[in-house]
Parts: sequence; C-alpha cells; structure tokens
Amino acid sequence: MTPARLMDEAQRARGMAYAPYSRFAVGAALLAADGRVFHGCNVENASYGLTTCAERTAVFTAVSAGVREFTAIAVTAREGHGAPPCGACRQVLHEFAPDLWVYWRDDRGRVLKRRLSALLPKAFVFERGGR
Ligand code: THU
Repeated sequence: MTPARLMDEAQRARGMAYAPYSRFAVGAALLAADGRVFHGCNVENASYGLTTCAERTAVFTAVSAGVREFTAIAVTAREGHGAPPCGACRQVLHEFAPDLWVYWRDDRGRVLKRRLSALLPKAFVFERGGR
C-alpha cells in the first residue's frame, strides 16, 4: 500500500465526516499489519468538546474490530490546509503503534511522511505497578 493509495482511502473516509460546526471535514485511513484499512472521520457534537477527530475514530473502529497492529495512517482535510494529527491523536496512536508511519498533506497538497516517534517524542507511557 503506497502513501498515495492510503491517502485516497483517507479522502474517501473524509466524505463521511460530520462537521456542521467547524465545517472542517477530516478523513483518516489506518493501515493494519494484516493489510486491512480502517476509515475514520471527525464526528462533531453540539457540545463542542465531545468532538472526536478522524484519526481516533479510525483507531477505535479498528480496535473494536479486534485489530491492534498498525503500520501507517493517512490523514487529509480541506484542500489547501495541512492536517497533521493533533497532539491527542498522536498519543492515542502511540498506544498501539509507536513506530507508525504518518502521512498527511501540506498546504500545497503534497504528501508528507514522518514516523509517529518523530511527531511525538517522549510520549506518555503508563508504568503499571508502584504506588
Ligand atoms: N480534527 C481532526 O479530525 N483531526 C485532527 O487531527 C485535528 C482536528 C477535527 C476536529 C474538528 O471536528 C475539526 O477538525 C476542527 O478542529
């Protein structure tokens, strides 16, 4: 799966966005280790803070289907607007795939590519045990 093809999937996912408040539709396509692709879109709410981003929708959809190993995610938003994943989504992606490849478009439409570990250095990790 090339970055360009995964980005096409993200574009399709974006078509399902529910964004009546911001009017900023976002789509994400999460590539699982087994080759399956999970779509996610942003889902807004009248109580704004309850909004869920496209990337987290994709992760929760995949995990709900029993899939927890991922190799890449593509994210796309409005043309002319760069849309790398927000900080909260980076932390959620880190939970399952610290070495994930992240693809997004810059404001000129070019696909950029970074490792999640570069986008989120020193992620929070919960050490079990202790007091
Ligand atoms: N949004 C995403 O879906 N992903 C991000 O990484 C950043 C922001 C959504 C949330 C909200 O519905 C809209 O974009 C404007 O913030």
